[in-house]
Amino acid sequence: MKMKTKKIFKPGGQQMLDVSYIPPQLPHREEQIKLLIDALTLISEVPSETFFPPLLYGPTGTGKTSSMKLAAEKIKKEVKRKMVLHYVHVPCSVFTKSYSVVQRISEEITSAPVRGLGGEELLSMVFGELETRDEYLLLVLDDVDELIKRDRGRLLFMVTRLEEGHGKRRLFPVFVMRNWRILNVTPPAVRSKITGLRIEFEPYTKEELVSIVKQRLKLAFQPDVVSSNAVRQISFNSAVLGGGDARYALALLHGSGFVALKTGSKKIGVEHIREAQQVFDRRVPHGVLDRVDRSSLVILMAVAKGFKDESDVHSFSIRKIYECYLDVSQKLEEKVGSRNEVADKIEEFIDSSILYRDDGRIVLPSISALDLYEKLVELVYK
Ligand SMILES: Nc1ncnc2c1ncn2[C@@H]1O[C@H](COP(=O)(O)OP(=O)(O)OP(=O)(O)O)[C@@H](O)[C@H]1O
Ligand SMILES: [Mg+2]
Repeated sequence: MKMKTKKIFKPGGQQMLDVSYIPPQLPHREEQIKLLIDALTLISEVPSETFFPPLLYGPTGTGKTSSMKLAAEKIKKEVKRKMVLHYVHVPCSVFTKSYSVVQRISEEITSAPVRGLGGEELLSMVFGELETRDEYLLLVLDDVDELIKRDRGRLLFMVTRLEEGHGKRRLFPVFVMRNWRILNVTPPAVRSKITGLRIEFEPYTKEELVSIVKQRLKLAFQPDVVSSNAVRQISFNSAVLGGGDARYALALLHGSGFVALKTGSKKIGVEHIREAQQVFDRRVPHGVLDRVDRSSLVILMAVAKGFKDESDVHSFSIRKIYECYLDVSQKLEEKVGSRNEVADKIEEFIDSSILYRDDGRIVLPSISALDLYEKLVELVYK
């Protein structure tokens, strides 16, 4: 059956959630982009020998590649009248050998056959070609960590050393990596070449992810489909479970759209995010509840019931949970524990990563409240 995606997504909206789509603005990356543009503007200045290759670093999904691409577009436009600037962006996680990276570069620049040439010769040829045509190359070696580890910086050495013995700088390299400390495996001669600006990309905070998610949902979803608590939940999960990764947030957002379509819901609330999370990145191992005593199961059942009944609530206070608990224990005719006992058990569920704390309140981020509730009913009545 074909799903009627139009109720949830805008026409063409899903493409805006794709990894290949880069929005025209990147919230919370203005500073990095500006630094990068300032560093790259030197390309068109004469003498350009003052260019030092910048290095972008930070964990996954922090906007390194996207910021680089936006900055490159801007630079290309800026220098257009002054010079021919090629922009070659090599994802070194795909081109995993130095030689294939060099080949990729040469494909962009030269049309000559390259068979039989070594890496350095090939790069020299590229350089020669740029010189003959009086053109320039902005070369981004993205995700270069593994390659550095493997070739101990040979590729970096080649691309930074190429200028030596030539007059004008033609090749402007930029390096993008997760961790700049990887440079420590390279010989000093390589490290001494990478003296440019180091631009840090920190993991996004929960608050930053809120604006990133909001920007994207405006582009991709029909108006008023995604609730503001759902946005909070995505941002919380991506900051806390996903380590501040924007890609994680977008995947969760996209996934929640499918959950809504599958269940025929016109709106996306917190429970849809939990369901999407469960599919996308399951956090709670199977069987973990089988080892929990009955009185704790009843407490968790109260939490699950609370979130199940109010399916668009992001967090509960301990007080609210205690009320749910009194209700549930009464129905089950269970012995009632004190509020402190309940708080202690909640703490244990936080330690075992079933529940989380957010600004002093309790969150259930990664399991559908309904699934959890049903599982607990089964265990309690067994
Ligand atoms: N500030 C932001 N605003 C909007 N979208 C963002 C932002 N930062 C990242 N994204 C989006 O998140 C996804 C991941 O970003 P990007 O690929 O730039 O991260 P990265 O740091 O290069 O990650 P990796 O180290 O895994 O390559 C992309 O789809 C990108 O569009
Ligand atoms: Mg990247």
